[in-house]
Amino acid sequence: MKILVATEKPFAPVAVKGIKEVIKEAGHELVLIEKGTKEDLINAIPECAALIVRSDKVDHDVFSAAKNLKVVVRAGAGYDNIDLAEATAHGVCVMNTPGQNRNAVAELVFAMVLSLIRNRFNGTSGTELKEKTLGIHAYGAVGRNVARIAKGFGMKVSALDPFVADDVMIADNVTPVHSVEDLYAGNQFVSLHIPANDQTRGSVGKHLISLLPKNGVLINTARKEIICEPELEQVLEERQDIRYVADVKPDNADAIIEKFAERVLFTPKKMGAQTSEANINAGLAAARQVVAHLKDGWNKFQVNK
Ligand code: 3PG
Repeated sequence: MKILVATEKPFAPVAVKGIKEVIKEAGHELVLIEKGTKEDLINAIPECAALIVRSDKVDHDVFSAAKNLKVVVRAGAGYDNIDLAEATAHGVCVMNTPGQNRNAVAELVFAMVLSLIRNRFNGTSGTELKEKTLGIHAYGAVGRNVARIAKGFGMKVSALDPFVADDVMIADNVTPVHSVEDLYAGNQFVSLHIPANDQTRGSVGKHLISLLPKNGVLINTARKEIICEPELEQVLEERQDIRYVADVKPDNADAIIEKFAERVLFTPKKMGAQTSEANINAGLAAARQVVAHLKDGWNKFQVNK
């Protein structure tokens, strides 16, 4: 069967090689589209039984053209780019590869924060992380790795996650917090790790950001949609001490950079999962999940049940 890997942002070549091997060993054929358009995807999909993507949009148009599609695997954690209702309506199983990008994203949090608080290494005097407070908004796979690294820096770490028992955090030497207001009010640094869904879109706005203590830093390596961008801008106007770093830059990033200069820091392109290691982890996991699904319907990480 044909398995289409269509990624606007290509995996590292070593990961593509591994994906190809997994697919070939199982007796299938790889169709590879890198840096392609939606049209390229729609043209290639009709003859494919499986699709592997990253943040690439898989919507009504794609599912309508996908006459032989059985499974879509999002090589990564967040699957907000895939229209799950359409997938279900077309009888397609959608899976993600939870946890495979966790270390890459967690390391990027600190790369960005250090660049910010050391004034982009411009020769002027910055600040340190040791003994500063860090609040982790959602204690999933990425959040836990952020906590692990933060403790290496000597930070005081707390976390909020209604789906994780206090004992799990306490065992990690992380203080459980039970209200989102307390998380923002109690930590100089807050790192976002919530998914983008109907409950979270636009949920981080003035109400929360303005609670940050003096010199507060909001870190977003999750999704831009979870921020209420107009309210973020309003707080940046009103509070000259607040800073924002994001791997998922806002829609009007250029205007924000112009207005707030060194108080904001954005990657030019989403970089969280852009390491060879993460590409190998997520890409190979995706290929193996596809092969298992095509073999006997394996669906452990199905997200459209
Ligand atoms: C994820 O959800 O796993 C990350 O956001 C990675 O996204 P990417 O594959 O587009 O880099």
